[in-house]
Amino acid sequence: MKDCFYIMSDFFVVDPAQVPSIAVASMDATHHEEIEVVNEIGRLIKAGQAGKLDREALQAKLDEWIEHTRRHFAHENRLMEEANFAAYGVHSHEHTMVLARLELACKAWQTTGDLDALADYVLVHWPEWFRGHVASMDTMTALYLSRQGVE
Ligand SMILES: [Fe+2]
Ligand SMILES: [Fe+2]
Repeated sequence: MKDCFYIMSDFFVVDPAQVPSIAVASMDATHHEEIEVVNEIGRLIKAGQAGKLDREALQAKLDEWIEHTRRHFAHENRLMEEANFAAYGVHSHEHTMVLARLELACKAWQTTGDLDALADYVLVHWPEWFRGHVASMDTMTALYLSRQGVE
């Protein structure tokens, strides 16, 4: 049944097996934690689109995601700063932009209740950014940091 498919626990926004592992273990672990949160949000959105919206659970997960993203970016920014990484400015600027976009998408959902707009951000835009960012900026940064002995 279609409804069952949407609440099945194996729906992934990003498949954990598809995330490239990077050279700094703490960054890698953070990415996997974040994917877990986003995949749960994806399941709640899919269930909502199938007529079974749990608004409270979705809001709680979105709040958790924003908080996790803040910690995720602050952690990477701190590692880059401490290691005097040359691309700190570019990388941390992207973090700032992405966090603002995430906060805006969550705020818009709260204000308008437009689940399809939220779905578009969570299921399409964010994973596209995440895959690209991990494969490029985070991979390069982690390579540099690991050579400085950062774990
Ligand atoms: Fe990252
Ligand atoms: Fe990053």
